[in-house]
Amino acid sequence: MQCSNCEEEAIIRVGWKGKNYCVNHYKRYFLAQVSKVLHKYDIRGKVAVALSGGKDSATCVESLTHFDRVDVEAFHINLGIEDFSEESLQKSREICKKQNVDLHEIDLEEKYGRNISEITKEESGKACGTCGTVKRYLMNRFAHENGFDYVATGHNLSDEISSTFNNLANVYLTPFRGLEPVLEEKEKYNMVSRIKPLYWVKDSECQVYADTNDIEYFQKECPLSKGSPTNELKKWLHDLDEKRPKSLRNFAKSFNRIEDRMETSDDELKTCDKCGYPTATEVCRFCRIMKN
Ligand code: AMP
Ligand code: FES
Ligand code: ZN
Ligand code: ZN
Repeated sequence: MQCSNCEEEAIIRVGWKGKNYCVNHYKRYFLAQVSKVLHKYDIRGKVAVALSGGKDSATCVESLTHFDRVDVEAFHINLGIEDFSEESLQKSREICKKQNVDLHEIDLEEKYGRNISEITKEESGKACGTCGTVKRYLMNRFAHENGFDYVATGHNLSDEISSTFNNLANVYLTPFRGLEPVLEEKEKYNMVSRIKPLYWVKDSECQVYADTNDIEYFQKECPLSKGSPTNELKKWLHDLDEKRPKSLRNFAKSFNRIEDRMETSDDELKTCDKCGYPTATEVCRFCRIMKN
């Protein structure tokens, strides 16, 4: 298979473009997808990348370092999930050292007195939901306290579409908001803007980019999230995307348009009585989980 743009051997076929790319042309294609998000939403300034040590957030850090318009730093949350957390912290340190990016570390247990293993033992069967709340809260709080303009996560096109289908399958429609690559800040509620630079690239595309650009990452699956239904949905969506290569992107475009047409209001939002961060209830879920 030859590259569609030069004489080199191609390493990947990008179905929706109908093109094959060599290493160099693929890098250009991939960074152009990231650039599309940065330009469309005029993103510039201080970005804190939430780094788990996995392939997507590691790729997110590396890809942002190619753009002068953003100053990239990273932070890792040590969730205290036994060896999994220890290894992902070590990997995050290696990634940042190699990329020459400053890494901040937040230790959940040290700072707030409890870790995810402990919390989820009490709330059996709800590990990922609780952990997601804790992570989102700490991402926002870290960025807010440290003067960052944005928090970036490694969510890619496959993650976004599979989790939306999972929500649809559960008639859970609130998260239909925040589906675009950028969720705007709300200063009044101490909410920092959240961005997803890898929004337009699929899982397999991130994988190839990471592998061909010498990006290190951590591959283990979290022991508490095994058998997640979104993994099955992802497989189903990727099969569809193989046969009809614009499916994933078109789902994203359609979901974005639906979101644009939804009436949004901040009516339910207020700030938590205990910590001052955004919530829909008097005391936010983080404070309740951590027994603040
Ligand atoms: P997940 O919730 O594991 O699907 O991860 C979604 C995104 O959250 C990742 O792409 C990272 O950007 C971020 N993230 C996950 N775990 C951590 C962590 N322990 N520390 C910092 N960021 C994380
Ligand atoms: Fe949060 Fe596994 S990383 S439950
Ligand atoms: Zn080429
Ligand atoms: Zn609170």
